Amino acid sequence: MGAPIPVRVESADQAASQLDRRGRRLRDLRISVIDRCNFRCPYCMPEDQYPRDHEFLGKAERLRFEEIERLARVFAGLGVHKLRLTGGEPLLRRELPVLVRTLARIPGIDDVALTTNGSLLAAHVDALREAGLGRITISLDTLDPGTFRAMSGGRGDVADVLAAIVAAERAGFAPLKINCVVMRGTNDGQVLDLLEHFRGSGHIVRLIEYMDVGTCNDWRRDLVVPSAELRARIAARWPLHELDPNYGGEVAQRWAFADGAGEIGFISSVSEPFCGDCSRARLSADGRLYTCLFAGTGCDLRTPLRTGADDATLAGLVGAVWNARDDRYSEARSEATLARRDRVEMYSIGG
Ligand code: GTP
Ligand code: 5AD
Ligand code: SF4
Ligand code: SF4
Repeated sequence: MGAPIPVRVESADQAASQLDRRGRRLRDLRISVIDRCNFRCPYCMPEDQYPRDHEFLGKAERLRFEEIERLARVFAGLGVHKLRLTGGEPLLRRELPVLVRTLARIPGIDDVALTTNGSLLAAHVDALREAGLGRITISLDTLDPGTFRAMSGGRGDVADVLAAIVAAERAGFAPLKINCVVMRGTNDGQVLDLLEHFRGSGHIVRLIEYMDVGTCNDWRRDLVVPSAELRARIAARWPLHELDPNYGGEVAQRWAFADGAGEIGFISSVSEPFCGDCSRARLSADGRLYTCLFAGTGCDLRTPLRTGADDATLAGLVGAVWNARDDRYSEARSEATLARRDRVEMYSIGG
């Protein structure tokens, strides 16, 4: 008898995981818990642009925590191991730690993170930690108080965000990720100040190219500062070297200060799109499943949830949506895609 033919044993995770039409696995779920925000950032929800008649979701329209938890379990069964809570501003949703506690306990979920504008964080950070939240990403576009006010639509105070960062450190969330959307002529001249502030702190500033998400930000390509240009400006002050990704499909390209003062990230979805291994699904607060940040429509999961569908049916629905997925918006960006007016708004799916 010859040697036995080796059988490739897949882990339960792999066996259960889903592939889309481009062979990309479903690994991450980003859950928007509310579509409201206390800021009006010009790149997301500009005060003077977003539809005046826009009605935010009412309480009954939003998924209840038990419904979110149930869907998260279904996604975990399909191979998702990482959850990120977003908004709008997720801390506008009352009792968020209650949700975090249930999500953190789901078998298969090894990472529960939060993306917040930081304005309301200081008061909740200990409860979030205690509930089992693993990581926090805080949006901070500039340290300059005037520019900060402009970039939050006149609503925010940079001092609150800086205080939240200190509170998050004390609560044990360090290192934090600090997300900065860079807009030419608005805050690009202040990026070095932001980096200087966080150099040596252990926190990772990520510089995000301004994107054409949603329908109301009047995006123009000339307002994007390509990461290569920004990196050259930074390297002229502090030499940098590139780091390997932490995991496949990571959104940010990692770079380090050569003098050992820490890491920065570049999120270059316009100049160097990363659709090739995009593993992210997005759930809106009203229970629609979106397979791309730039999608026009989402699959309604709330109706089946509320009309008695069992877990297997929900899993079948989600699996079918993922299997049919062909999105690669950023790679295919063109005048034609820019003309599309049906894109989901960033504040509905949280980035
Ligand atoms: P980690 O889990 O820490 O790696 O987080 P992340 O980088 O995946 O998530 P985060 O929310 O911090 O992403 C930062 C920003 O990158 C988002 O706010 C978006 O602006 C952008 N981004 C994230 N995912 C995508 C994506 O799939 N496509 C595009 N085009 N942009 C994305
Ligand atoms: N371009 C790039 N990033 C954006 N975000 C929101 N709108 C845009 C945009 N037009 C990011 C913000 C925030 C996250 C929720 O989404 O930085 O960190
Ligand atoms: Fe700004 Fe985030 Fe609010 Fe959008 S959801 S307006 S990016 S703080
Ligand atoms: Fe994924 Fe769509 Fe972003 Fe491409 S544009 S990385 S497919 S979310």
